[in-house]
Amino acid sequence: MNKVSVSTKRPYSVLIGSDILSGLGDAVLSVHKLSKAMIVTDDNVAGLYLDDVINSLTESGFRTSKIIIKSGEENKTASTYLSVIEQMAQCEIGREDLVVALGGGVVGDVAGFAAATYMRGIDIIQVPTTLLSAIDASVGGKTGVDLPQGKNLLGAFHQPVLVYFDSKTLTTLSELDFKNGIGEGIKYAILCGGEILDILEKGLCKDNILRFVELAVSVKRDIVEEDEEESGKRKLLNLGHTFGHAIEKLSEFSISHGIAVAKGIYIVARASLCANKLTQVDYEIICELFKKYGLDTACNYTTAQLLSVIKMDKKINSDGQISLVDIRAIGKCEINKMSFENLKEYINECKN
Ligand SMILES: NC(=O)c1ccc[n+]([C@@H]2O[C@H](COP(=O)([O-])OP(=O)(O)OC[C@H]3O[C@@H](n4cnc5c(N)ncnc54)[C@H](O)[C@@H]3O)[C@@H](O)[C@H]2O)c1
Repeated sequence: MNKVSVSTKRPYSVLIGSDILSGLGDAVLSVHKLSKAMIVTDDNVAGLYLDDVINSLTESGFRTSKIIIKSGEENKTASTYLSVIEQMAQCEIGREDLVVALGGGVVGDVAGFAAATYMRGIDIIQVPTTLLSAIDASVGGKTGVDLPQGKNLLGAFHQPVLVYFDSKTLTTLSELDFKNGIGEGIKYAILCGGEILDILEKGLCKDNILRFVELAVSVKRDIVEEDEEESGKRKLLNLGHTFGHAIEKLSEFSISHGIAVAKGIYIVARASLCANKLTQVDYEIICELFKKYGLDTACNYTTAQLLSVIKMDKKINSDGQISLVDIRAIGKCEINKMSFENLKEYINECKN
């Protein structure tokens, strides 16, 4: 089993292995005393891994309850969150108990926000079951739900006490949801190049998936340790997300997060190329990755449509400027501020 240690204000480990789900209970016991474990999952994952998780936790001595939410981004809402909180109260979950989030980023974000706020905060274990949540959503402590006005507008920072990833869970993931994870994976390859890029260029497979997840989590760990609550460097992790979130929202979530992020990264890469800030060689490496994994980079929304959604995005600063992550080279991205007016030109230029 691989381990990445995260030294945030509240330190924790990310355990990464293959076929390790039966060891979850003992791993939880090493970070949390025996108590009630409220497992939050969705209606797809419940049929696949809920029994294994209940068995493992029970064998280690935990009492368990479960909450099954509806799957999909359209259910990452305040009403789902409230319903989770109310079910926790009905089950008499106390301050010493814990939440176990079993699923993808949607479950992780909703359950994480419930854990962050229930009784002013109780412990949470993240058990990611998608590639996207393993390399990104389960680590770093961002939790939250969407509002009609925009994504993740209601949320909190709440670090887990443990992240436990079994790569075997990915064997049941749909091709689309695997691609979704690759979208965020390409983000890491652009941010730091090196071995993550090598793996993606050669091809992600079951022989290198554990190493890939370990590397991606380590990149996120390094950034989050430096800037836990996103006052600076952590914004780098938003590469492609300003446009990605807008595309996701405009599609009414029929384009999923990682795929929308890939489209957003493509807009940024083109803009960086058009401004002569990214070399043709690096631009082509990025495009090749999209092609290799069948990620469609086309954005079918107009500039006006994108801007209307971006306006609501929480990434706009109080001075009306927007923070955008630009690509200077593979392994070299930077955070720049741009006025909302200039953003229009930026999008127009790179859509040509
Ligand atoms: N908190 C963060 O730092 C952070 C970072 C990145 C993304 N996110 C959020 O993560 C969400 C996207 O996460 P996601 O891509 O995991 O989506 P998701 O949670 O919607 O999961 C995708 C689909 O896969 C199904 N699924 C999950 N695990 C499965 C498995 N092992 N086998 C078969 N089916 C499975 C789910 O039921 C769902 O239908 C977005 O809401 C995004 O905003 C959060």
